[in-house]
Amino acid sequence: MEKKYFIVTYGCQMNVHESEKLAGILQKRGYVEAANEDEADIIVFNTCCIRENAENHAYGNIGALKKRKKMRPDLLIAVGGCMTQQDGAAERLRKKLPFVDIVFGTHNLKDFGALLDRKAAQKKPLVSVQASEERLEEEDSAYRTSFPNAWVNIMYGCNNFCTYCIVPYVRGRERSREPDAVVREVEGLLEKGYKEITLLGQNVNSYGTDRDVGMTFPQLLRRIAAIGGKFRLRFMTSNPKDFGEELVQAIADCPQVCNLVHLPAQSGSDRILRLMNRKYTAAEYLRKVEMLRGAVPDCALTSDLMVGFPTETEEDFRRTLELVRAAGFSTAFTFVYSRRSGTKAAEMEGQVPEEVCKERIMRLVEAVNAQTRGLSAGYEGKTIEILCEDYDPKRGAWLGRDEYGRMGYFADERNRVGEFVKIRVKDTSGISLFGERV
Ligand code: 5AD
Ligand code: SF4
Repeated sequence: MEKKYFIVTYGCQMNVHESEKLAGILQKRGYVEAANEDEADIIVFNTCCIRENAENHAYGNIGALKKRKKMRPDLLIAVGGCMTQQDGAAERLRKKLPFVDIVFGTHNLKDFGALLDRKAAQKKPLVSVQASEERLEEEDSAYRTSFPNAWVNIMYGCNNFCTYCIVPYVRGRERSREPDAVVREVEGLLEKGYKEITLLGQNVNSYGTDRDVGMTFPQLLRRIAAIGGKFRLRFMTSNPKDFGEELVQAIADCPQVCNLVHLPAQSGSDRILRLMNRKYTAAEYLRKVEMLRGAVPDCALTSDLMVGFPTETEEDFRRTLELVRAAGFSTAFTFVYSRRSGTKAAEMEGQVPEEVCKERIMRLVEAVNAQTRGLSAGYEGKTIEILCEDYDPKRGAWLGRDEYGRMGYFADERNRVGEFVKIRVKDTSGISLFGERV
């Protein structure tokens, strides 16, 4: 009988795409996807450690398998991803969850298949978390689950060391992929009918600065756009400190590059930004936004914002609220600062009490949502073009995003997944738009 796998993913799109690569490796070895955890012969947890709650969540869910593993000793449980890559984490995991069969890191993803073979030959658990920063295999072997959207890594790791962030410690230094390999992967996806490509990197603006790959990130965008045809090109994430005119010009010049930029500001307070090691001020951030809107007037802007960084005062927080308005974010991911051991901020005095963080995050979420609703209301009566990506059985409607990242819903008898569909917006709610096909 066929063996089945089930993958549980925590965290960002980077991880979602890495789970697709793990799925590709499992499929090559003859596994098929299980509909749920119960029927799986191997359960893989692809973890995230960027905030404490993601980590607790993973620990809880893995811990819940203890009984099942006892009843079914042949069930394989593998834990990988950022969480295992922290200092001492693999040992902690082994102690707390001794029934886990394989612990693997982020740097040796491509060896996952070999690990499975090694595990088959030995009874005792296998821990393989390497500190090395080898490149992932260049061949596209991911089993993609998000048609018509596809994620493509252009680089791995991060050199920025924002003081709150664990990523540079668990994902290592920046490593850019060869432009030819990236372009080949995108061409292959477009040939298969994918219509939206999102280029992934922790800081895409520093593409090609770790070694000479012969082009900058904006040049890479232009080269991919030049493949031609109708498709959408997105990228994330840009660090404001490196966001510049060359990139803005590429967005303006290439119709394939969506007029939506995700530019994490984190805070509106210069004092906090300095403590975060972000290397820009709120005014500099806004000047970049102005430059972007000067060249691409309809460009939407989204952001990541954080409350409760050590020593953050009410005054600092108000500056973040002000920035939401001044930058005109169409939406933003909002986070409560989470203390990550090993980072500089974890050692800082003045950790902000939980109640204060809770109150601030509620106010921030409300400010962002109010702005999102206001901007959505302006869509009523307008016609937008969405790329249909799925069906929502609860709403009985097809859905997809417009170029600016808004979700549009419409009814249709026919499956439209993978098609560009024009809808006239009749109603709005939050960032969602409801319309009729025109
Ligand atoms: N606590 C809270 N949020 C964090 N982020 C990164 N590290 C932390 C942390 N320690 C947020 C940042 C980043 C996003 C991916 O996650 O806003 O942009
Ligand atoms: Fe973390 Fe800063 Fe790197 Fe983003 S740029 S991954 S926030 S260190």
